[in-house]
Amino acid sequence: MQIPELKIGYLTAKIPIIQGGMGVGISLSKLAAAVANNGAIGVISATEIGFNYPGYEKNRLKANIEALRYHIRQAKVTAPQGILGVNLMVATNNYELMARTAVEEGINIIFSGAGLPLNLPKYTKKSSTLISPIISSGRGAEVICKHWIRKHDYLPDAIVLEGPLAGGHLGFKIEDLNSPPSLDQLIKEVREAVKPFENQFNRQIPIIAGGGIVDGYEIARMLQKGAHGVQIGTLFAATDECDASLAWKKELIRAKKNDVIIIQSPVGLPGRAVKNQFLEEITRKRKPFSCSVNCLRTCTPATAPYCIASALINAQSGNLKEGFAFTGANVYRIDKIKPVKEVIEKLCSEIIEYDADPILV
Ligand SMILES: Cc1cc2nc3c(=O)[nH]c(=O)nc-3n(C[C@H](O)[C@H](O)[C@H](O)COP(=O)(O)O)c2cc1C
Repeated sequence: MQIPELKIGYLTAKIPIIQGGMGVGISLSKLAAAVANNGAIGVISATEIGFNYPGYEKNRLKANIEALRYHIRQAKVTAPQGILGVNLMVATNNYELMARTAVEEGINIIFSGAGLPLNLPKYTKKSSTLISPIISSGRGAEVICKHWIRKHDYLPDAIVLEGPLAGGHLGFKIEDLNSPPSLDQLIKEVREAVKPFENQFNRQIPIIAGGGIVDGYEIARMLQKGAHGVQIGTLFAATDECDASLAWKKELIRAKKNDVIIIQSPVGLPGRAVKNQFLEEITRKRKPFSCSVNCLRTCTPATAPYCIASALINAQSGNLKEGFAFTGANVYRIDKIKPVKEVIEKLCSEIIEYDADPILV
């Protein structure tokens, strides 16, 4: 298959791949710039981005804002011709400030999920920053389109559809993850859901499908099924340029199929993670913690089983005894940490190699 470009508003990516935003400290400027320099879209995660920034312990909000500015500027310097995005979790308490900061820094596009980003168009109004919600169903796409049109007179510039095999927090109920709909089905559902709005505005909304994609054949298949691009997280996490420590990356490489588990996160959503001793311990016994910042609107520190920010910071820095790694379902198919360039070249050659099966299309 010929590799199609991905057009989102005024942006054109040569390669129809978006690197999914990965908090806390997994996708910062180094990974995002490397991806953007190789023709795809690189995404910085804003979630607790200031965790290793000076002054974080004293004033987390300030450190997070300064670190977001730093990483956007750094990525722009490293990838001056590349397309760069920021990922914002709706559940975070500093959401509006972080969105406005990303806009001030001239980020190309904001991707936002883990909740419905109902007010996002307000923060990007009159700027050149494009916006894409992250949803997991046709219903989610419909709710966002209706709300954004009614309240903000705005149609999403793109929609990321995160399927049930994705890494990190998932937009599915835990019980639905036993027999979830396939990504193919979901693409169809979302395309149907957005059709009336596309007709109303006489503009197509690019659909970006993600979750469990680790090779170019699957990318080509998603494109055949009607996606305009794909979002990939875990495969980019296992790269030299991923901003996490080597120990964190090795946690992904060591994972076998049965090490991948679903957990209930303090964010209030299920998440997919690599099983380890820390996760086993916290299912047996709560790890009480004191919290003065309440970084997540959805977390109740008095009853939460552990502090997810601390656990993810520990893991990112290599202390996996006191934390854990989020992952996509197909992590066990990744056996080596590689440079981003090699990963993207391999994906591209597999897309080109792909011959559509006329029965499956
Ligand atoms: C370690 C990790 C952290 C993630 N953190 C976030 C996040 O902060 N916000 C978000 O919207 N998605 C997050 N995701 C989801 C990714 O952006 C992406 O959609 C997903 O990983 C795609 O599935 P894949 O990993 O199987 O490719 C995370 C995924 C991983 C693996």
